[in-house]
Amino acid sequence: MSVIRSAVTGVGAYLPERVVTNAELSEIVDTSDEWIQERTGIRQRHRAADDQPTSDLAVEAARKALAAAGKTPADVDLIIVATTTPDMTFPSTASIVQRKILAPTCIAFDVQAVCTGFVYAISVADGFVARGHAKCALVIGAEEMSRLMDWTDRSTCVLFGDGAGAVVLEPVEGQGTPADRGILGFSLRSDGTKTDLLYVDGGPSTTGTVGHLRMAGNQVFRHAVVNIAEAVTSAAAAAGVEVSEVDWFVPHQANQRIIRGVGERLGLDENKVVSTVADHANTSAASIPLALDAAIRDGRIKRGDLVLLEAMGGGLTWGACAFRL
Ligand code: UT7
Repeated sequence: MSVIRSAVTGVGAYLPERVVTNAELSEIVDTSDEWIQERTGIRQRHRAADDQPTSDLAVEAARKALAAAGKTPADVDLIIVATTTPDMTFPSTASIVQRKILAPTCIAFDVQAVCTGFVYAISVADGFVARGHAKCALVIGAEEMSRLMDWTDRSTCVLFGDGAGAVVLEPVEGQGTPADRGILGFSLRSDGTKTDLLYVDGGPSTTGTVGHLRMAGNQVFRHAVVNIAEAVTSAAAAAGVEVSEVDWFVPHQANQRIIRGVGERLGLDENKVVSTVADHANTSAASIPLALDAAIRDGRIKRGDLVLLEAMGGGLTWGACAFRL
């Protein structure tokens, strides 16, 4: 049976120029390079310039993804930005990106699922592309987590960074089997009873301020390994494949110990797991497309490979998405 799938046809990423090392952070809070590397695997993070809003990072990544797909902004008919650090309360960062890249009138909106944002956004975009409502979709994860940090809280300020990644999704014809190119299955979850484990203590309708990120780190850690493993198994089942058939796992880059813990729970070969957390720390919704871009550009992930994305974050939200490149 012939079906329309949404295929990833281009990937792009951008990290701001300024690098902040662990040593630099140890000058402002009571921490050390040794503690950060041992507990998280993070070596450094990037920080946006004061006059560089999230949309600027998104635009850089989007332009690279469009170039990789052989498309121009004139082709774009859907823009979804996954972000928890928008330029403004409104309009959406997606509409600002649309203006900056000079895309024509199209569908543009943001998705907010914190660190799971990219998995949610690509699954939402799949609905538009596979049902014929979009022919060239830009799905972007872009974040400036540095804006949400309490720089006196060592348990959070060392963990996060700024960056953006983007993919282009286009419709391709498939046979309705797991051998098809494109998105094959996903699983998305939220448990709102756990909002107090990871949140920002501000917002337009409460404090009227942006607020700072607060996290019960070790509790989030425990949920992460169990929840992510369940989502991966469900997404693989939805795609009609076994977890053991997956060629590449591209996890949310929060903590190397979480990435390892999920891998061990699922019995994954660690050589199939992409990790870039050392270079950019936790960039929330941007971390998956940043890692995907790195592994496609260095030739590890190739056309025809079965790829599984997974993430967990504030909400708590979590999810996974399987696609064939
Ligand atoms: O994107 C999704 C959301 N976020 C996550 O996935 C993060 C999930 N959590 C984690 O990654 C880890 O829980 C952390 C990296 C945040 C913390 O690691 P941990 O092994 O769970 O440490 P802990 O919170 O149990 O703290 C252990 C100790 C504490 O000291 P005491 O009470 O044992 O004396 C902390 O005060 O480490 C201390 N500590 C630090 N020490 C040096 C916490 N942060 C730091 C720091 N430098 N930056």
